[in-house]
Amino acid sequence: MPNEIILIAAVTVDGFIARHKKEKIQWSQDLFLFKRQTMGYPIIMGSNTHETLAMELKGRNMIVVHRDDDPKTILGRINKSRCFVIGGGRTNSRFSSFLTHLYITPHPLVFGKGVPLFASGTPELKLYFQKLVPVSLENGIYQFQYTVDP
Ligand SMILES: NC(=O)c1ccc[n+]([C@@H]2O[C@H](COP(=O)([O-])OP(=O)(O)OC[C@H]3O[C@@H](n4cnc5c(N)ncnc54)[C@H](OP(=O)(O)O)[C@@H]3O)[C@@H](O)[C@H]2O)c1
Repeated sequence: MPNEIILIAAVTVDGFIARHKKEKIQWSQDLFLFKRQTMGYPIIMGSNTHETLAMELKGRNMIVVHRDDDPKTILGRINKSRCFVIGGGRTNSRFSSFLTHLYITPHPLVFGKGVPLFASGTPELKLYFQKLVPVSLENGIYQFQYTVDP
């Protein structure tokens, strides 16, 4: 199992990652950072997220998970020191107890409803702030990096 299991997501200020489960995300401004940070590492995603991708994400082993997959087994097969959980909300939830880090980029948007960062019923996580990475100074967008209290 990787030492670092990092959830990475773009969120609205009210905590949504998409307006609906089929949305192709076009509002996120941190794609360059997402690419830089995930390049060369396995990325885990749910089947809904996979269907929304416009293209395969090159240079990364894409692991698409389904409801019958066991998160611990999936992670146990990865022989890299780091991997990323890239969504969506259901998948973030299913992997939540294994996460070591969260990289979250709040965007200046409010959706009011949609797909939350974690599906409801996810157990609480306590986070420790680690680092702030600028995404767009002009628009006040930063990536917040946290570690998860083990
Ligand atoms: N803003 C961001 O950073 C970001 C990042 C990634 C994704 N997204 C957005 O997130 C949205 C998708 O999120 P999502 O939460 O709907 O999907 P998801 O996590 O991508 O995929 C759904 C997962 O839940 C499983 N599942 C479906 N129904 C279930 C059930 N009744 N019980 C247990 N498991 C079930 C699916 O398995 P099966 O395959 O077996 O159905 C699949 O593994 C898309 O709009 C995408 O664009 C946003």
